[in-house]
Amino acid sequence: MIALGCDHGGLELKKTIIEYLESKNIEYKDYGTYTDESCDYPVYGKAVANAIVNGECEKGILICGTGIGISIAANKVKGIRAALCHDVFSAKATREHNNSNILAMGARVIGPGLALEIVKAFLETEFSNDERHIRRINMIED
Ligand code: RB5
Repeated sequence: MIALGCDHGGLELKKTIIEYLESKNIEYKDYGTYTDESCDYPVYGKAVANAIVNGECEKGILICGTGIGISIAANKVKGIRAALCHDVFSAKATREHNNSNILAMGARVIGPGLALEIVKAFLETEFSNDERHIRRINMIED
């Protein structure tokens, strides 16, 4: 189950991502926002982060204007590793090396075509399980 969240700046891109997930029969839960009315990104960043740490969802995707504020908010929740990615290489690498559980993107930074390639890389790449990466992740959590 994929948790989705965005602020008003990320709403249109979230809709594009929902279309993609539905076309692939990938299950998701949408934690808002649901309208283009101006709203506060920490609310949605934390809602998605909490859905992951409490086990409702395995991974999350967060979108705001830049992806910065919403990823900062999500990373305040213990157990969350939210990666702000605007290229495919980083999305793949952060899954392999950081076992990131949230992908954050900025809808005012990249277009929908690239965003979907990034989503695909993030969802399809497994954690390497290498000892050195596990050790480093544990050092973050401590
Ligand atoms: C909202 O205007 C904007 O600040 C927000 O979407 C995001 O870019 C914050 O980091």
